[in-house]
Amino acid sequence: KYNIKNFAKDINDNIYIETNRRGRRIKKNKHLISLYNNTNIKTSNFIYPLFIHEEGNEKNETKLEGIHTYNYEGVVKEIEECLKLNIHHFMLFPVVNDQKKSIYCEECYNENSYFCQTLKKLKDKFAHDVVIYADVALDPYNVYGHDGIYDEKKREIINDISVHTLVKQSLCLAKCGVDVVCPSDSMDNRIEQIRKNLDFYGFRNILILSYTCKYASCMYAPFRSILSSNISHNFVKNKQSYQHDSNNYIDLNNVEKHIKEGCDIVMVKPSIFYLDIISKIRSKLDAGTNVPIAVYNVSGEYVMIKNYVKSLKKDLKYENEILTELFKSYLRAGANIIITYFAKQYGLYMLDLYEKRIKVDDNSS
Ligand code: PBG
Repeated sequence: KYNIKNFAKDINDNIYIETNRRGRRIKKNKHLISLYNNTNIKTSNFIYPLFIHEEGNEKNETKLEGIHTYNYEGVVKEIEECLKLNIHHFMLFPVVNDQKKSIYCEECYNENSYFCQTLKKLKDKFAHDVVIYADVALDPYNVYGHDGIYDEKKREIINDISVHTLVKQSLCLAKCGVDVVCPSDSMDNRIEQIRKNLDFYGFRNILILSYTCKYASCMYAPFRSILSSNISHNFVKNKQSYQHDSNNYIDLNNVEKHIKEGCDIVMVKPSIFYLDIISKIRSKLDAGTNVPIAVYNVSGEYVMIKNYVKSLKKDLKYENEILTELFKSYLRAGANIIITYFAKQYGLYMLDLYEKRIKVDDNSS
């Protein structure tokens, strides 16, 4: 009916760039954008880390805004609030008093510790409504702050004796009702030894979430300050002799190795600087034995985002929009599971949007 020449003239104001490809066509409206959006964030993908202290109030402040440590009663309340947000996964870390720290870290397999008692009571109370994760590493219990046992004479972290202790710790955690043990210690061959011993002692259904790709990073500092696990020894000042090297991909060997040894979930940590690692693992897994990939937004990354928002004097809504962008980057890279201190905050945000019938994607500044 209309004259194509006139139409083009009217609409384009005489300016027309001849082209077959126009990327904006497929973004013409929000329904088209959601048509091919496969990175929907769900609270069921979250694991929420929580710190358990031995003495103090139900809930204590830490130096980190928005992060607390809890006793049993306090953590029960926090978990109950999260269950209403469809968050069912909780990763618990002990904050251990200095007097209980030692060279051989014996406290890590003490079933009567406050931490272990808390794990047992939580499992009794919530049973299958929660999935409980616990770290396997010696740093909360170690006078030196290292993840393995430190030999002062040799000035080294001794691998095999560390693994022996880590196995004991894993068995203790399994006995106390933990569903998933999470070796974050980075010692060689511990996945194999933990799996074999869990199986031998009848814990065949306990999962292993391996910190497969845990980089020696500056981003763990706030976490270490909460646990008072800063490395205190003069000679081995960092964790570079066991955590991964950010210079190259050599340590990616661990992915295949850990899966063979029986881990159920692999993890990349920290997150923002290591998205390339996630996507490399994703393509490797898609072509072979597949297990879910978790990514840990660590304490330093949490602080980075909080302080960015604060420095701009922006509000919580703005912060949550950043989180949407952040979490989508994880899903795009190929992660399935997101471990984050923001879990509850973001869950509350999603609930609020749901109640207002607003889609997360429609709520950006
Ligand atoms: C302990 C452990 C660390 C983190 C998780 N487990 C610290 C470290 O390796 O020094 C860091 C978590 C965070 O920074 O949020 N092995």
